[in-house]
Amino acid sequence: MFDHSLAAKLLKMPSSKKAGSRLPRPLLLINIGQLLTLREPNQHRGPRRGRDLQELGILEDAAVFCSGGKIVSVGKTREVLRDPRLKESSGHIVEVDCQRQVVLPGFVDSHTHPAFLRPRLADFEQRISGATYEEIAAAGGGIRSSVEAVRKASRPTLCERILAGFKQMNQQGTTTVEAKSGYGLTVESELKSLAAIRDAAARWPGTVVSTLLGAHVVPKEFQGRSSQYVELVCTEMIPQATKQKLVEFVDVFTDRGAFSLQDTERIFEAAAACGLGVRAHVCQLSETPLEPLLRFGPASLDHMDHVKAQDIGKLAGYDTVATLVPGANYFLGLEKFPPARKLIDAGVPVAVATDYNPGSSPTPSMPFVLSLACTHMRMLPSEAIAAATINGAWALRLANHKGSVEAGKDADLAVFEIEDYRELAYWFGSSRCVFTVLNGSLMTDAAPGQID
Ligand code: NIG
Ligand code: FE
Repeated sequence: MFDHSLAAKLLKMPSSKKAGSRLPRPLLLINIGQLLTLREPNQHRGPRRGRDLQELGILEDAAVFCSGGKIVSVGKTREVLRDPRLKESSGHIVEVDCQRQVVLPGFVDSHTHPAFLRPRLADFEQRISGATYEEIAAAGGGIRSSVEAVRKASRPTLCERILAGFKQMNQQGTTTVEAKSGYGLTVESELKSLAAIRDAAARWPGTVVSTLLGAHVVPKEFQGRSSQYVELVCTEMIPQATKQKLVEFVDVFTDRGAFSLQDTERIFEAAAACGLGVRAHVCQLSETPLEPLLRFGPASLDHMDHVKAQDIGKLAGYDTVATLVPGANYFLGLEKFPPARKLIDAGVPVAVATDYNPGSSPTPSMPFVLSLACTHMRMLPSEAIAAATINGAWALRLANHKGSVEAGKDADLAVFEIEDYRELAYWFGSSRCVFTVLNGSLMTDAAPGQID
């Protein structure tokens, strides 16, 4: 089933120069066993809800032709081979026989915190000994204990760590990543983190969306003066990050021990004034009413473990995506997981993401998140896959370009050594991703490359 000679050939390919320095060669994937197109199931445009989340738009014996970093043609292998545009590029095309394996749009990991230096092993052991996430934070561990190293780090050092995170995510099939700052908590270190994210993005052929999370926690030096810290976020961090074109979204950790709803409204107002989108970590630790946040039209509300029943009904009327991050529940050893079934059945658009971070979810793996979504949140494999691709793209407002395999969209693909799409969520603890295509560049787990 898995063609080792194909992987070996890809691994030997010479690297292309810097990501984005030249257009990738046209690429033809043929003999795909199951191509999960995730194309629109009906006329309705918008994030997937309810039954539509199960519609993967599967094509068997399929092919995809990509050129100029875009998807040009999608269909049965014999149809795509007849496309006249193939002839125009012939002699130049990289052709890959997919050996009847499964191909899908690259995962869109719409919630990650990659701008950190070190794992939090003391927190890990304390939790194993019985302390909770909040108890550890109150005793001086938690988010605040990741801050000093980030403040001290140079921008290139931080960039290397972030890039290593993107590469690990990519090895598991991710081609688009939302990346948050949030471990600097000074104007200078938050801007440095965002600049390092931009530097890492420039060295990786995938797509990165940057989010300012200056309001992650109140830093030590502002203890007891949280409103002054909120002022700093609003009047300096947000305007400066905007001016330097470092950021697309602003996020707030709206919860017990972090920021209040009033703080969040103030920060969202400042973000809106700068033309930025907003999202929030909310209802992770405690029940929080969502109405005050919904008036800002957030792109996503994330975690949602303790969302109130009446808010689920309200959310169904919005395009705001509920982004569920079950890796955090798993790693914190919680018995309860976010109420995916209730959200989906009520018509709320749901995405899933890794929440890659050193405190609550140190995993770069979207396939592991798919496994958790199915085993602990009772999502069907098809629902989990749509939540990890097209709805992730909606959560980042990128659905015009990402999240499905359709002509005109960016050429972002992931090829897995499996025969049935349900295996994506079935195997766990090992990576079956053979290679990915990022904006048209073919990428093995070594480097972007081209077949000669
Ligand atoms: O999404 N809840 C807030 N932020 C992260 C955890 C960050 C950390 O512990 O370093 C989360 O779980
Ligand atoms: Fe998070």
